[in-house]
Amino acid sequence: MLANTVHLGFKSIEIWPEQREVEICGDPVVRRIFFTDIQEYHPRLVAKILELEENQRLRKRYYRGACGTKIHHLEKWVNSEAELITARAKALFMKVLDCQDAVVDLSWANVYRTGDYCMPHSHVRSTASVVYCLDPGDEDPEDRQSGRFCFVDPRLKCCCQDQEECMTTPFLPGMPSGTMLIFPSQLVHAVNPYTGKRPRITLSWNINKNALPDAPLPPEAG
Ligand SMILES: [Fe+2]
Repeated sequence: MLANTVHLGFKSIEIWPEQREVEICGDPVVRRIFFTDIQEYHPRLVAKILELEENQRLRKRYYRGACGTKIHHLEKWVNSEAELITARAKALFMKVLDCQDAVVDLSWANVYRTGDYCMPHSHVRSTASVVYCLDPGDEDPEDRQSGRFCFVDPRLKCCCQDQEECMTTPFLPGMPSGTMLIFPSQLVHAVNPYTGKRPRITLSWNINKNALPDAPLPPEAG
C-alpha cells in the first residue's frame, strides 16, 4: 500500500486529493483525471527535467519521430516532485484496475522541441500506461493539432466513426497541464509534430499489477 502523502519541502501533499474524479475519456477503456494543485510541484519538476535534458549521459534521443528527448527512470531522479506524480500514477492504476498494487515497469519524461513528434506505437511489457501533461507547450493558431497526443486505434469506437473497425478519426483527448490519462498499453497512439518553441513536457509510466522478470531496457539504454 502507498502512503497518503508526499512531503515537498515543508508541505505535505495528498497523493489523491479529495473530490478528484476519474472520468471516462472518449471510450470506457480510457480514463482521465485533472489535478489542480499543480503549482505545488510543476515548477520544480519542470526545472529538474530541463536540467536532466542537458545531461548527455541520461538523455536519450533516438530520432525526430521517436517522441522527442527521453529521460528514463523517474525513481532514480532523487526528486520529491517526481515521487509525488509517480505515486499519483500508481494510485490511478489501482483505482481504475481495482487492485491493491501497482508496479512501474518503466517510466520516463519526454521533452519535445520544435519539430519533434511521435510515430504511432503501443507500449510493451505492461497492462496499462499512464501519461501526464506537465506542459502542453505553445499553441499554434495555424495548426490546432500541433503537439497533440492522439489515439489511432481501430479497437476504439471513437476512432471509427465512418465504418466499424476502420480507423478514420484520430481521437485527441484534451490534455491541459495537470491532466493524467490511463489506457491499455496496447492501444496505438501518437503525438503530432510540435511546432511551438516552449518545451512540451510529458511523463509516462508503464504499470503492471506484479513485477516482471528482467529489466525493460538494456543497461546502456537506461
Ligand atoms: Fe507512447
